[in-house]
Amino acid sequence: MKKGIFPTNNFKNLQTPFYYYDTVLLKETLDALNKETKKHAIEAHYAVKANANERILRIIANEGYGADCVSGNEIKAALNAGFPASKVVFAGVGKDDWEINYALENDIFCFNCESIPEIEVINDLAKKQHKTASIALRINPNVKADTHHYITTGVAENKFGINMSDLEKVIAVVKNKSNVKLIGLHFHIGSQITDMNNFVSLCNRINEIQQWMQEQQITIENINVGGGLGIDYQQPNENPVPNFKDYISVIAQHLILLPNQQLHIEPGRSIVAQCGSLIAKVLYIKEGTNTKFAILNAGMTELIRPALYQAYHLIENITSEEEMEKYDIVGPICESSDVFAKGMHINKAKRGDLIALRSAGAYGEVMASRYNLRPYPTVYLTEDFQ
Ligand code: LLP
Repeated sequence: MKKGIFPTNNFKNLQTPFYYYDTVLLKETLDALNKETKKHAIEAHYAVKANANERILRIIANEGYGADCVSGNEIKAALNAGFPASKVVFAGVGKDDWEINYALENDIFCFNCESIPEIEVINDLAKKQHKTASIALRINPNVKADTHHYITTGVAENKFGINMSDLEKVIAVVKNKSNVKLIGLHFHIGSQITDMNNFVSLCNRINEIQQWMQEQQITIENINVGGGLGIDYQQPNENPVPNFKDYISVIAQHLILLPNQQLHIEPGRSIVAQCGSLIAKVLYIKEGTNTKFAILNAGMTELIRPALYQAYHLIENITSEEEMEKYDIVGPICESSDVFAKGMHINKAKRGDLIALRSAGAYGEVMASRYNLRPYPTVYLTEDFQ
């Protein structure tokens, strides 16, 4: 297996832990996706929740992407970074009044709505601002995604979306409201999906819904299929750029769009995951009874995915070329779940070695916490060392 390439000489004098973003790879990834979306005239809204670092947002905004936001502060961050309001969608089951007001004031493209009470509140707040809010209905398509149960969203018992059986009722409510306008249907079935058949199932379900809508003579201009494309956590060096070509062509092939319908996607992880690594230092090597522990100065406070989802992140010792040895790689936090990996093979480690936790650009920095009163991790980009 290939090992990652890092500017380790530049890293040596820096305080660890920190996030390092390879912005050359980020731009390559954005270009690769842009190439595919252009072919099919798809509008991509980057899911800000995956990584809301200001400088990362600016790079993505610069490439012409829209933004998918789930809070007032995400909208603020997106607008500050240069995403045009006309390409901002606002999703989430629990939008607070100030967040809705803020989105209305800034004339965002669309609210992705998840319930009747939410539509009523948006209507009322829009009326007060003498505006009409464009809304999309987030429909729970009841399509299973083969991913961790914590990050699947599109099945029936989920808190997300409007059930298909309620669609008629919801559309009737929208029709009666003067300050909301139905412009789209929105879907999202989960995250870290690598089996393209899941997206085929989603497209088939959308086709059925579209057919029903046509029978009701309801026309909808926008279809948003959400995000969810997975990345290769096992082999980030071999597959640094996700297979956007297959993903986009599966959707283009299976989704039947009506004339003048605009297709939207909301990729998060697939754009930012591979460009980010959490860089930590080995504090101690501790001999257990059955295992050897490499204790790092980063833990679940900097990268919670292993503790929360049993997620796998490839770990590399980037300052050693010695023979491979097996370690349980753990953090310093007072929680037994603060384990990055058990039985991971890395180059023989000693105190002071630098360790890279790979594929951490998505849902890494942004999910950091201050538990144990740890500071938030600092951040470096490729250009900081040029
Ligand atoms: N659109 C909607 C409505 C979403 O809920 C999400 C992610 C996305 C787009 C972006 O999905 P992506 O392309 O990144 O898969 N913290 C978890 C992932 C949570 C995903 C939440 N929703 C993790 O670390 O795996």
